[in-house]
Amino acid sequence: VENGLARTPPLGWNSWNWFACDISEETILSAARAIVSTGLKDAGYEYVIIDDCWHAPARDPITKEPLANPVTFPSGIKSVADKVHDLGLKFGIYSDAGSETCARRFGSLGYEQIDAKTYASWGVDYLKYDNCNNEGFSGNESISSWRFSQMAKALNETGRPIVYAMCNWGEDHSWTWAGKLANSWRMSGDISDMFTGYSKDCPCTSLLNCTTFGHHCSATRIIDWTAYMVNYAGPGGWNDLDMLEVGNGNMTNDEYVTHFSMWALLKSPLILGNYLTKMTPDILDIITNDAIIAVNQDPLGASIKRSWKRLLEEGDVQMWTGPLADGSTVVALMNTSPDPQTATISFKDIPSKSPNPETTTFRAFDLWQRSSELTRSGTRWGLDIGLFQGQISDITLKRHQTKVFMLVPQ
Ligand code: GLA
Repeated sequence: VENGLARTPPLGWNSWNWFACDISEETILSAARAIVSTGLKDAGYEYVIIDDCWHAPARDPITKEPLANPVTFPSGIKSVADKVHDLGLKFGIYSDAGSETCARRFGSLGYEQIDAKTYASWGVDYLKYDNCNNEGFSGNESISSWRFSQMAKALNETGRPIVYAMCNWGEDHSWTWAGKLANSWRMSGDISDMFTGYSKDCPCTSLLNCTTFGHHCSATRIIDWTAYMVNYAGPGGWNDLDMLEVGNGNMTNDEYVTHFSMWALLKSPLILGNYLTKMTPDILDIITNDAIIAVNQDPLGASIKRSWKRLLEEGDVQMWTGPLADGSTVVALMNTSPDPQTATISFKDIPSKSPNPETTTFRAFDLWQRSSELTRSGTRWGLDIGLFQGQISDITLKRHQTKVFMLVPQ
């Protein structure tokens, strides 16, 4: 939406994936401090977002204003927001376009104005707005969009710049209309910390058979699903592939590299979901890869698209490509199969207007091989692997690995 915000995908951290409802002031503030002390802030992570369960048992009985849980947030939300701001970060909160949130705290349906006003007075910079307990209003596009537009209007009326992150899981094909209301929109069921597979609640394989958007989608499942909606991403409005699971312990490092690379290149908001104060150095390395983050934050704001998918007995190899503002091209090669694979990048598959990619010489950088030199505009565009014409052949991929290349026309 054209509210001047999220011209590139928001970067931040959210409490849900690791802590769920087990949150407090201290949980949130120690995460905020860790964002600064580990260098995540310097890498661009900005929003500190409290998800579900910050609520008191009920609203203020007289004013109907939302209240924070007095036991876990005794200083109140404004005090937490102030402390987050003092660290030079931005502050986000969560509510729901229904009578109750997904964890059955009070929702905002019917209270949009009072809630938006209160959030603004607390210093909220980002609202994640969920879709549970919507009183049977789901399944009808006009009413689903009505519920979400009520909050869009209320946020605008506050006059405070607040990023609006819709979380209706793709219901009513929301990626087709959410761009008019919101800065980002979820288009799948909830992510789980797993590389492949899904539960019966995440059954969509094509737009045709997609009827429910439930829980427990694996990273590769969400990537496949996003192939249908890459054209809807752009400055001011992004497909939200859901919060990152990098560092939560159930995937290998190669799998987390795949997860992080594809989220970044598909221009999803990069909202970390791990336990920042207990993070290992290899996890920090993955989420602070500045070349990958620079692609995510590229001013053109174009998502990668799938060039091809080679099906294997188990899993597949996929190539995705996308343009960058300066005329170079980013290419991802993803191996979702359990075995090592080799693949070739043919430049004929590169969507480029001019010059003709088949006759152009490209300098290629491997964005997961870190070079010590700053290769381009203060950023380490990975390792320079040389000049290529026509193709880069026989690239090897380990089990579940993704490699990302930047091709710069010469
Ligand atoms: C839904 C959302 C999640 C999380 C939970 C909180 O499932 O999709 O991202 O916010 O609710 O209860």
